[in-house]
This record gives sequence, structure tokens and C-alpha cells, in this order.
Amino acid sequence: MKTAIVYYSYGGKTKKYCDNMAKEIEADIFEMQTLKRKSFIGNLFSECPKALQQKTTSIKEINLDLSTYDKIILAAPMWAGFPAPAFNNMVTMLPSGKEVEVFIISGGGETKPENKEKVLSLIEKTGSKAIKYTDILNVNI
Ligand SMILES: Cc1cc2nc3c(=O)[nH]c(=O)nc-3n(C[C@H](O)[C@H](O)[C@H](O)COP(=O)(O)O)c2cc1C
Repeated sequence: MKTAIVYYSYGGKTKKYCDNMAKEIEADIFEMQTLKRKSFIGNLFSECPKALQQKTTSIKEINLDLSTYDKIILAAPMWAGFPAPAFNNMVTMLPSGKEVEVFIISGGGETKPENKEKVLSLIEKTGSKAIKYTDILNVNI
């Protein structure tokens, strides 16, 4: 089974978690980067509202063809109770008919059930199937 891990990380924790996972399960790994690196305050005031509304953000161009993978793992930090907006960019790149797993790396919060439902339904709209959603609390790096 061929697996791809696609992630966004602001402070490095999600990156560290995904790097380890990629080695462990022998997956290909791809990093999404935002066009500009905003300050914490910038993220709080302009990116968190996007996270809450499940909107995309401006990302650096990435040449990503996920159609050759059987399973796709998406990972992002939790911002304002939702995945950071770059996660929503990843979802737009999903081909249909794939198995998708989600890992959300948080500062201690767990995803509320209603937020999880919204994230899973965004994925289902692509025609892929969200098979697992895991909150990872307090990654130590
Ligand atoms: C703008 C912003 C919003 C955040 N919102 C939350 C939150 O709602 N709940 C939570 O548990 N952690 C929150 N955090 C903490 C991050 O989810 C946590 O530090 C995560 O591990 C960071 O991953 P990263 O190092 O890959 O960016 C927030 C962090 C930032 C920068």
C-alpha cells in the first residue's frame, strides 16, 4: 500500500511528528508552506478566522500528484479548534476514491465532535473517504 503524508507546520511540531511517522510507515512526505510566514498575532487575527470558516490560505506552489497513492495522510496544527487553513488547501488537492487519515497536532485541546464532523464532511465532498481522525496532544520536540 502506497501512502503519502501531506502536512503543514508553523512551529515545527507537526513536521517532527510527520517526519517520524513517514520513517515508521515508509511513506512519501510533502510539506505545504504558506506564501508568507505570519506572526503569531497575524495568524490569530487573519488566519484563525479562516480556520474557523474552513477556508484556504495563500500557499507556495507545490507539485503534488496524489493520484498514485492508496492512502493519504493529512496533518496540521490545531488553530482555533480547527485545522490550520493550509489543511483546507490540502483537501482541495485530494483525488476521489482514496482513503484519508487526519492527524491534528494541538497544544492540548481535543477537536470538538461538531468540528470533527465539519472536517470529515469537507473531505467526503472530494469523493475520498475519511477513515480516521486522530488528535495528537502536546507533541514534545
Ligand atoms: C494561531 C494559533 C492558534 C492555536 N489554536 C489552538 C487551539 O485552538 N487549541 C489548541 O489546543 N492549540 C492551539 N494552538 C497551539 C497549536 O495547535 C500547537 O502548538 C501545535 O502543536 C503547533 O504545531 P506546529 O508546531 O506544527 O505549528 C494554536 C497555535 C497557534 C499559533
